[in-house]
Amino acid sequence: MADTAMPPVAFTKGPSEGTLPGSAATIAAMSAPSPQAMRFATAAFATGVVLIAAEVDGVPVGMLVNSFTSVSLDPPLVSVNIARTSGTWPLLRRAGRWGISILGAQQGTDFRRLSRKATERFQGVDWFASGDGGVLLAGASATFTVGMEAEVDAGDHVVVILRVLGLHRTPDRASLVFYDSQPHRLAAAGKGGPDTGFTSKGLS
Ligand SMILES: Cc1cc2nc3c(=O)[nH]c(=O)nc-3n(C[C@H](O)[C@H](O)[C@H](O)COP(=O)(O)O)c2cc1C
Repeated sequence: MADTAMPPVAFTKGPSEGTLPGSAATIAAMSAPSPQAMRFATAAFATGVVLIAAEVDGVPVGMLVNSFTSVSLDPPLVSVNIARTSGTWPLLRRAGRWGISILGAQQGTDFRRLSRKATERFQGVDWFASGDGGVLLAGASATFTVGMEAEVDAGDHVVVILRVLGLHRTPDRASLVFYDSQPHRLAAAGKGGPDTGFTSKGLS
């Protein structure tokens, strides 16, 4: 296909201001989608981070997930993608009701603690029971209680679709951002429009 098949893409913002030459050059730059390449490329997609957790046999069980997505408003559905290698999910799945907490921008310490191995994850973390078996994080920017809607096999992950039973958003509490495999805080909005800059990696 000729280079002219795709019009040049103009960049008006950012360090690589200019134009892309067209489809041929774009296709030549593509890599094979190995798992490593997939991880690297998808890390360019900024997300939040949630804790999905519940009490199982009287103790909090949970895992951090950045694949959380809003699926449907009516009925209210969200989803998470869980790796088949997860040791926590088979245990957590037994709960039947879960709490989902979107980590707040000030929860860098909780982020690190909840990233530890399963047996140490909740040490020093301020959590509370949702009342129906779910576990929620103090300091979260928003919380949900959810039940199972459907599970869909998807390669080395399972897409878990969850029905939202209750929710709470804390106004004016910003969320932590996960970008390029690191936690960040968004810089405060400046005068004249939103500031898209990121602040420090490795938040405290
Ligand atoms: C920021 C972050 C995001 C993560 N997102 C996911 C995810 O979307 N799906 C998933 O299965 N595991 C995800 N994980 C990994 C799990 O939190 C956990 O570390 C992993 O399942 C291994 O622990 P386990 O054996 O206790 O399950 C994420 C971890 C971190 C730190």
